[in-house]
Order: sequence, then C-alpha cells, then structure tokens
Amino acid sequence: MEFDREYREALDLAEGELKGCFREDGPQRELLDAMRYSLLAGGKRVRPVLALKFCQALCGEMEPALDYACGVEMLHTYSLIHDDLPCMDDDGLRRGKPTCHVRYGEWLALLAGDALQAAAFERLAGSKRTSSAANGRACAILARAAGCAGMCAGQYLDIVNEGRELDGEALDQIHGWKTSALLEAACLLGLTASPVEPSPQQWAAAERYARRLGLAFQIRDDMLDVESTEEELGKPIGSDAENGKTTFAALYGLDKCRELVETLTEEAKQSVRGAFPRPAFLCGLADLMAQRKN
Ligand code: IPE
Ligand code: IPE
Ligand code: MG
Ligand code: MG
Ligand code: MG
Repeated sequence: MEFDREYREALDLAEGELKGCFREDGPQRELLDAMRYSLLAGGKRVRPVLALKFCQALCGEMEPALDYACGVEMLHTYSLIHDDLPCMDDDGLRRGKPTCHVRYGEWLALLAGDALQAAAFERLAGSKRTSSAANGRACAILARAAGCAGMCAGQYLDIVNEGRELDGEALDQIHGWKTSALLEAACLLGLTASPVEPSPQQWAAAERYARRLGLAFQIRDDMLDVESTEEELGKPIGSDAENGKTTFAALYGLDKCRELVETLTEEAKQSVRGAFPRPAFLCGLADLMAQRKN
C-alpha cells in the first residue's frame, strides 16, 4: 500500500510537469503536437520515477530531480518513436495508441523524436533546481547512456543482428546498451540532482541496481512480446519473432527467462539494501518490474 502511494506520488509529480511541455503556439504547432502525442500517451514512467526516488533516497526530497526526470522521459520517448519507425521495428501501436509515424507520417515522427532528444538536454542543462555544475554532469551522464556507447549502440546491434543467431553473452551486451544504459542514467541523474552528495559506495550500488534491473526489464519485455496480448501490452505482440530477433525468450524459453528475471531482481534489491537508509521503495519497484504485465 505504501509502495503504491509512493509510486503514484512520484508518477503524478512527473506527469504534471510533462503535461506543461511543448504547449507554445507557433508555425511548427504540428511538430509540437506530435511530440506531445507520444510523450503524453501514458507509459509506466519508470525512468522519471527512478530519478525522483534515487534523489529522495539521498536527500529526502524528489523535487531537485524533477527536470532531470522529465529529460530522461523525453529521451526515452524519442527512442520509442524511432524504434517503431518502418526502418527499425516497423510497429503500429505504442502505449495503446497508433505509433507516432502512423498518426503523423514518417518524416514528422522522425523530427518529433529529434526534437524530443534536443529538448531532453535543454531541460537538464537549464534546470534551476540544481547547480550548473550538476547540470553539466547530468548532461554528460545522459549523453553517454543515449549515444554510441549506450542506447544507440544497442539499437544498432539489435537491428544489424536480425536474422542471425546470437549467444547469451551477445544478447547481454545488446540489452545492456539498448535498455539498461538509460535506466542506469535515470538512477544516476537522481543521485546527481541531490544536494546531498552520494558516497562512492552509493554510486556503485545505484549502478549495480540499475544494470540488474535493466537486464531483467528487457528480458521481461521479450517475454511479454511472446506471452502477452496486444490489449494488455499496448504494443504489438510477436514483433520480435516477425523481425527475426534473437531475444532471451527465443534463446532460453519462458521458464528459464522467469528464473533469470527472479535472480537479477534479487541481485538488484541486494545492491541497494544497506547502501541507502530507506531501500524499500527501490526494492518494491524491482519486484513490480519483474512481474509487470505491460
Ligand atoms: C519500452 O520501455 C522499451 C524498452 C526499453 C523495453 P517501457 O516498457 O518503459 O515503455 P513505456 O515507457 O512504459 O511505454
Ligand atoms: C527497444 O527495445 C529499446 C529502445 C531503445 C527503444 P524493443 O524494440 O524491444 O522495445 P519495444 O518492445 O518496441 O517497446
Ligand atoms: Mg527495437
Ligand atoms: Mg521495438
Ligand atoms: Mg520489445
């Protein structure tokens, strides 16, 4: 119950702030509409919640991390818009609605993603809730996670290996880059926003938590692509198989995946226990992500 209340509180905080974005008028109104269409289509908001709650785990407050939380969700939404494009996964449904390119056309979806990415960094760089030194560090964290040694590298390997058989090690690397990197950035952005400095042990604990959670998160995503329904998931099922992707579900089968998710979740929880004074929410979040249905 306490967990649900805390999740709701963090979600509402992030959601309220995101709702105010890209409302200005101008000749590019349709571009802004496309950005808002995808950004406000729902979604679990895991990354902003992680940023807010890691900040709170250190300093007791979520507010210092609010701009960073919005930034990481903008970047994530850009990655989803581009991931769904015909030249990538070619999917027609996202967050229960037609994907951005289905609704607005391909070139506008591409630009909406580009502009969301730029807006993410603008939000981090200009935050008045944190020092300019912290903002610089935050931009570097997000850039690294999003770029050619992070999410884009993972997306590259994900696509270039379509139709090829991969082993578990290769898959670990792809998932680590395409999914864990951004989840890790969210956690580290939360620590960076806190006016109370994290100890090196706390920083390392957050990294370890995020990597385990991230891997479990993508394995769960691969499982849901096989065993969920389109209504429940809000995105197409069977997309991975159709695109010839080697996923954890394809490689190991669903039972082994369940075991892996359980182990990784336990390791994630173990990482934050002892490192932070109130780890209960972060442990609860790892459990929720392991059992998620969408
Ligand atoms: C989907 O991310 C893409 C992956 C990295 C698996 P989420 O599962 O967080 O999607 P939303 O934000 O809730 O829609
Ligand atoms: C995408 O992984 C991860 C991103 C960087 C967007 P997937 O392609 O499996 O994500 P879904 O299943 O479309 O959400
Ligand atoms: Mg993909
Ligand atoms: Mg996809
Ligand atoms: Mg997927």
